[in-house]
Amino acid sequence: MSESSYRNLMPVYPLIAQQIFDDYQVINGKCIDIGTGSGYLGIELAKITSLEMYFLDFDSDALHRARKNVVENELSNVVHFVEADVTSLPFADNFADLVISRGSLWFWQDQVKGLQEINRILKPGGIAFVGGGLGRYTPHTMRKRLKGRRREELEKKGHKGFLKGVELEELVRKTGIANCCLLSDAENEPGHWIEITKAKES
Ligand SMILES: C[S@@+](CC[C@H](N)C(=O)[O-])C[C@H]1O[C@@H](n2cnc3c(N)ncnc32)[C@H](O)[C@@H]1O
Repeated sequence: MSESSYRNLMPVYPLIAQQIFDDYQVINGKCIDIGTGSGYLGIELAKITSLEMYFLDFDSDALHRARKNVVENELSNVVHFVEADVTSLPFADNFADLVISRGSLWFWQDQVKGLQEINRILKPGGIAFVGGGLGRYTPHTMRKRLKGRRREELEKKGHKGFLKGVELEELVRKTGIANCCLLSDAENEPGHWIEITKAKES
């Protein structure tokens, strides 16, 4: 993503972080931000929690930017930077309390395997919030402006758009993961986030 796209999106990251905080109340333990890019969502969530943060991306330049931004934000959380592909996560089973991933799923070569890997490394009772969008707390006016810009950018690049609604449901079905649901940012929009709540062992 270009630096100008990041600049436009900057107000959205704290809002999505607050939504994740409010919805899941996971404030301690291990959190992995997958496809972290410049690290902004993970950084905003770290600021309002005591989570131990893992910033993960398969692109070393992205991780370099994430590291720089983490340092500039003077986080007091324990932080790690992990270069890895989502389809082969270097973590043990049942490792993470929370997995977040915004705007990355659409670029994964094997989305089914990526989601299965996320489910594997989640602790029983852990949550994953994976997908894309601007979050529920982004005001309507800002949403309209940003979505228009993004659509233009993608059309210029010949991008066909993101999986949502029925297509995303089909993807989730192929993963075979139980306790999954789709979430959307607004009432009239199809779901474009996947929430996984890993079942607790009985
Ligand atoms: C559009 S950026 C989104 C960055 C950030 N999450 C955000 O919302 O600002 C997508 C990121 O996903 C990463 N990515 C794409 N495919 C990946 C994969 N298979 N494994 C890990 N990271 C991946 C890219 O390198 C890029 O940094």
